[in-house]
Amino acid sequence: MNQRPRRNRKSANVREMVAETNLKIEDLIYPLFIVDGSNKKLPISSMPNCFRWSLDLLLKEIETCGKLGINNFVLFPAVENHLKDKTASYGYDSKNFYLKAIHTIKNNFPEFTLMSDVAMDPYSIDGHDGLVINGEIDNDQSLPILCKMALAQAEAGIDIIGPSDMMDGRIGAIRETLDDNEFTSTSIMSYTAKYASAFYGPFRDALDSEPKFGDKKTYQMDPRNKSESLIEAELDELEGADILMIKPALSYLDVIQTIKKNSNLPISAYNVSGEYAMVHAAAEKGWLDYNQTFNEVLTSIKRAGADIILTYFAKDFARLKK
Ligand code: PBG
Repeated sequence: MNQRPRRNRKSANVREMVAETNLKIEDLIYPLFIVDGSNKKLPISSMPNCFRWSLDLLLKEIETCGKLGINNFVLFPAVENHLKDKTASYGYDSKNFYLKAIHTIKNNFPEFTLMSDVAMDPYSIDGHDGLVINGEIDNDQSLPILCKMALAQAEAGIDIIGPSDMMDGRIGAIRETLDDNEFTSTSIMSYTAKYASAFYGPFRDALDSEPKFGDKKTYQMDPRNKSESLIEAELDELEGADILMIKPALSYLDVIQTIKKNSNLPISAYNVSGEYAMVHAAAEKGWLDYNQTFNEVLTSIKRAGADIILTYFAKDFARLKK
């Protein structure tokens, strides 16, 4: 035999030398949930070791994460029901605790990257990402609301805007709003190929943001489609996105690979709540080894072509590396 592939696997050092995928803590963005008030660290039953933090405790948590080498965070608000309305107006209200939190975190940790979520669902009584009119999600009337949310976040000091709503044309509309207001340095990471997925269940528990009627299939993508993700990618690129995201990650590795091959922009993938919950549930039962499994999950997402991974495993990955 001239070729014996096993020779390149014969020791840990050789395997390390020939490894094709190098997952680094710098590739990861850690999602964090924020609630109003103080001294709160509320558990999320379907997401072990994730919490809804009040700002005072969140600042300490971010400091801890920083010491572990995590520099990038995506922030989500858990909003009390009495603040929700049809038009998600609290989303850009100057009293909004989420916007205040962005401002405070940025002041305390200017070196860290903060990313936001732009969608109406945390603030909407309908629990949909766009504006509901006569039982339908109205695309074009949602755009000005999403733009107001994005502008308010930019004013609060966010580094990267994360539109997760899947309305058509929102990347262009948000880019124009930011530029018109001199936020030319504020980036947009577009949720480009966001699928209508069952894997968001635990996240909706965390934010109490379940749609109040129907589902999200008229705006989020059909899991059966891949070519369509290239249309979304092309549009987001033309409209001014800086980074393209695929979400969820694990059941969509082929989509990550396809978009990576077809775009010169950096590619990110969101390893979502349900993917996190699955590994925890199996590990709790003693059916899978937690550390090895999540490491393999993250490695596969990187190998498929994601430059950046949003993941609830970030802290455990950082601890494992230490
Ligand atoms: C809301 C939003 C969702 C997630 C991120 N932003 C849920 C949804 O679309 O219903 C899901 C993240 C996760 O499951 O970890 N626009």
